[in-house]
Amino acid sequence: MPVVTLVSNKGGTGKTTLATNLAAALGRRGNTVLVDADPQRSALHWSNVARANGEDFVEVLAAGADIARHGRRLRASHDFVLIDCPPAIDAPQSRAALAACDLALVPVLPSPVDLWATSHIAAAVRRTARGTASVKIRLIVNQLEPRTTLSRVVGGALAELEVPALETRIRRRSVYRNCMLEGRTVYGMGARGRSAVAEIEQLLTEIFSL
Ligand SMILES: Nc1ncnc2c1ncn2[C@@H]1O[C@H](COP(=O)(O)OP(=O)(O)OP(=O)(O)O)[C@@H](O)[C@H]1O
Ligand SMILES: [Mg+2]
Repeated sequence: MPVVTLVSNKGGTGKTTLATNLAAALGRRGNTVLVDADPQRSALHWSNVARANGEDFVEVLAAGADIARHGRRLRASHDFVLIDCPPAIDAPQSRAALAACDLALVPVLPSPVDLWATSHIAAAVRRTARGTASVKIRLIVNQLEPRTTLSRVVGGALAELEVPALETRIRRRSVYRNCMLEGRTVYGMGARGRSAVAEIEQLLTEIFSL
């Protein structure tokens, strides 16, 4: 899965959080670039702080709807490319990213409203990625709070959807929020980040197994 896109139709699902942490995980395995295709440029802002912290292990580039062109070049020059999209599947950047990637990860929050909307989101990603039939699409549950009633019904709700969800689920942890603010990834948070690192590593192993 050399090119992975983080996409969703909603803001705040965790695209940038997962993109930066996956970039750190992949950056430990090969030459990795994170393409910030979101005009909000959150990943780019994060990387400016990260660089000041000496966490410059991952290259972050800003791109617009010209990702297709960038994508081909970056695929040739890097082992792994991550693309962080704006919160709209129909945005030209998201469409171009979906056309350029091998795997589209769609973060989903385990809230009733998000779960109800997931079927629609999944179908929209599939429609947009159509024509590039080789793109795999997977939902990834983010901000899970275990031992809540909601967390128990998530599995059942996702099982009814056409688009499969990854088995790995990312928990709600303050370390994800803190490392975003501090310009770090969970890998740079020492003992505070240990459980999150294990979770991100598990996510990566599952991605590699697709
Ligand atoms: N697993 C998590 N645990 C705790 N906080 C999280 C987690 N994932 C994301 N967050 C927090 O939720 C907020 C939204 O996350 P993030 O910015 O990654 O979402 P996004 O999908 O990129 O949003 P946008 O669509 O606006 O770009 C951030 O404050 C982030 O720190
Ligand atoms: Mg974002």
